[in-house]
Amino acid sequence: MAKGTIKMDNPPPPPVIQAPGKSVKYKGVKHTILVMSGKGGVGKSTIAVNLAVTLSDLGFRVGLVDADINGPDDPKLLGVENEKVYADEKGIVPVETKYGPRVISMAFLLPSQDTAVIWRGALRHKAVQQFLEDVIWDNMDYVILDFPPGTGDEALTVAQLIPDSDGAVIVITPQDLAILDAVKAINFAGQLKMKVLGLIENMSGFVCPHCGEKTDLFKSGTIGKVAEKYGVELLGSLPFVPDVVLNADNGVPAVRSSKDIQDTFIEIAKALINKTAESVK
Ligand SMILES: Nc1ncnc2c1ncn2[C@@H]1O[C@H](COP(=O)(O)OP(=O)(O)O)[C@@H](O)[C@H]1O
Ligand SMILES: [Mg+2]
Repeated sequence: MAKGTIKMDNPPPPPVIQAPGKSVKYKGVKHTILVMSGKGGVGKSTIAVNLAVTLSDLGFRVGLVDADINGPDDPKLLGVENEKVYADEKGIVPVETKYGPRVISMAFLLPSQDTAVIWRGALRHKAVQQFLEDVIWDNMDYVILDFPPGTGDEALTVAQLIPDSDGAVIVITPQDLAILDAVKAINFAGQLKMKVLGLIENMSGFVCPHCGEKTDLFKSGTIGKVAEKYGVELLGSLPFVPDVVLNADNGVPAVRSSKDIQDTFIEIAKALINKTAESVK
């Protein structure tokens, strides 16, 4: 060994993620679809909510589980943030929304919207488990799960609660760093033996509210390459539309405010209906 060289032990092996062993099926639920991402702020909640509303518009019975315990945004996006849940002898009753899907979220259990959830792992785990097992999901065709961001402990714990999902949809924005994160999410799903149903590209280009022209915000075409490299389908691309933020603040899902966005979600939903058709439980 050359002088001054420090001898290193073999690098530690990569962490092994245990694939879930037991098989749990949720009572009253035919299909579960996870909406994941490699990091936060890429539009997971926006996509989970609009996908749920679109499936409901297409005639399915849809539930939405807001599994992001720290950032439970789905009730606000559906205009039901002031509702509370109650339980009857059969279980917890999910909140009905005027857009179709029923939703359950940590937000309904907090004293105010500003309350931060500072539970430790085991309790969070328990909450998501209850959202799946103790909520009355009565004859649901689809339950969409809006996942915690990233591929860390929390996402892992939640993923292990849902070993029988139909698969994951991975949301990705077209920057280089976000793509690295999305690749992590694809690998994460792979290690958990979870099927990747496809990628959704969000904020791909900016649509000018005045002239309607689309301008690329980040590189275009990169996501198609990622999809091809990993053998997953690009289910659809949504541009950055300023109205999405304004409407979201008012509890109006994007599919109710833009025909183009509605059409994109119908295409995405149809692709997912086909992909999940073979796994009817
Ligand atoms: N296509 C889009 N166009 C404009 N704003 C968007 C779009 N998608 C998401 N947003 C906005 O970006 C922010 C983050 O989205 P959100 O769905 O909350 O992401 P996540 O759940 O991944 O943290 C929100 O303010 C949302 O309204
Ligand atoms: Mg979110």
